[in-house]
Amino acid sequence: MKYEVASPENVTRGEATSYFIPHTSYLIPPIPFAMQDFLNAHKDRFLNELLELLRIPSVSADPKFAGDVRRCAEAVRDHLAAAGLDGAELCETPGHPIVYAEKLIDPALPTVLVYGHYDVQPADPYELWHTPPFEPTIRNERIYARGACDDKGQFYMHVKALEAMLATGNLPCNVKVMIEGEEEVGSEHLGTFVAANREKLAADVILISDTSIIANDCPSIETGLRGLSYVEVEVTGPNRDLHSGVYGGGVENPGNVLCRMIASLHDEQGRITIPGFYDTVEELSAEERAELAKAPFDEEEYKRDLGLKAVKGEAGYSTPERTSIRPTLDVNGIWGGYTGEGAKTVLPAKAHAKISMRLVPGQDPDAITELFSKHFTAIAPPTVTVKVMPHHGGQPYVTPTDSIEFEAARRAFRSAWGQEAVPTRGGGSIPIVALFERELGIKSILMGFGLDIDALHSPNESYGLFNFYKGIETIPYFYQHYTELKREAVVA
Ligand code: BES
Ligand code: MN
Ligand code: MN
Repeated sequence: MKYEVASPENVTRGEATSYFIPHTSYLIPPIPFAMQDFLNAHKDRFLNELLELLRIPSVSADPKFAGDVRRCAEAVRDHLAAAGLDGAELCETPGHPIVYAEKLIDPALPTVLVYGHYDVQPADPYELWHTPPFEPTIRNERIYARGACDDKGQFYMHVKALEAMLATGNLPCNVKVMIEGEEEVGSEHLGTFVAANREKLAADVILISDTSIIANDCPSIETGLRGLSYVEVEVTGPNRDLHSGVYGGGVENPGNVLCRMIASLHDEQGRITIPGFYDTVEELSAEERAELAKAPFDEEEYKRDLGLKAVKGEAGYSTPERTSIRPTLDVNGIWGGYTGEGAKTVLPAKAHAKISMRLVPGQDPDAITELFSKHFTAIAPPTVTVKVMPHHGGQPYVTPTDSIEFEAARRAFRSAWGQEAVPTRGGGSIPIVALFERELGIKSILMGFGLDIDALHSPNESYGLFNFYKGIETIPYFYQHYTELKREAVVA
């Protein structure tokens, strides 16, 4: 067994040497020895089990993988049962099943509800992967596979942390686990499930690992998620594709029109031109912005990582602000006419685009979708017909940082990483989080362990072994600190 002291010195970006803290750790309070031994003794098995899960292509968006999605749900259920949780089951929905399990030790103790998702994004384009997306490979201390970080690698840390706590008699409170299979397609059926199972899901806090930290030498906790409005638009001109020589110049080209319309959606300042788009946006105070600006950000490194010549965005805001506290509008895909090999001289009859708008507190996805539809239809020239088709959406979310729950997460990082976690606002969306608060009245703690270099949703997604193991180590501390803080709160 290799013991190395976990100190900030050997915790480096993307690669790290220490996985579990040895008995000699200076960190306070240490994970009980028995649990420490358990983690060390089983770490290879933990990893192999995760690799097994990653071999299942549980792509929720593509019906072709429906059987694999179910197989993955069954595997997750079996892992939860094997970890010592009770009542592990598949809860059927009209879509992909939800996996649920629990360990209720004492109604007088607090209850943590763990949420995660076992579904993954499509792996396309396959040819850009260095190794196949569903044949997990370990290179440079990282696991390469679709879902490695988002979210199999992350929810599985909870399964293993719970196994360790249960096996060594160190689970200090009640726990419920709900892992869904439709997060990447908008959690369509989870809302109904939650509303119909308020009692079953009753808890004091929801714990989620599906977000990122700033760096392995700079842990952080996300305090907010952006909302989402997603639309598909279709511009129709002539009744068929036309010869671009015979008709070119005499008819409106839907491709040209769509580009003009999309180009008009931002002004010179990088602001979105849809009337009313910003009306309800909650602006942050100068103090709040100053607080968030304390989180380290290296613009040169950001540019280097993404191969950018320059950063770009809304005037008056920094890159971290543009990607978290400000709303956006972006083309996610655009097509029409001939896009195959070689040249085909044709005027497309139709042009299409998929557009995402990331929303911030104050903005309602349905209201924004409505504003978009009205505006997009209004700016269409009379020569074409425009159709706007809404896809899934989601509410933004912000979590208070002065709660017992957030303090427990802070202390968990302090204990496991020997470092303070910086609060940050995230740019991604987990639409169900706002719904949890609305339907169940429970706040979520976003204790994710991913990194920007993990390439979520991109080819060659990966997750650091360090992050996987450090997450497993951090989670029990959350339970310890949370139970302790709740006990103090009751006594006070
Ligand atoms: N885990 C991500 C969201 C995320 C990633 C939040 C990194 C913060 C940091 C989640 O699985 C995701 O991809 N959500 C979608 C939502 C959509 C499919 C409704 C998103 O943000 O695009
Ligand atoms: Mn995710
Ligand atoms: Mn995702």
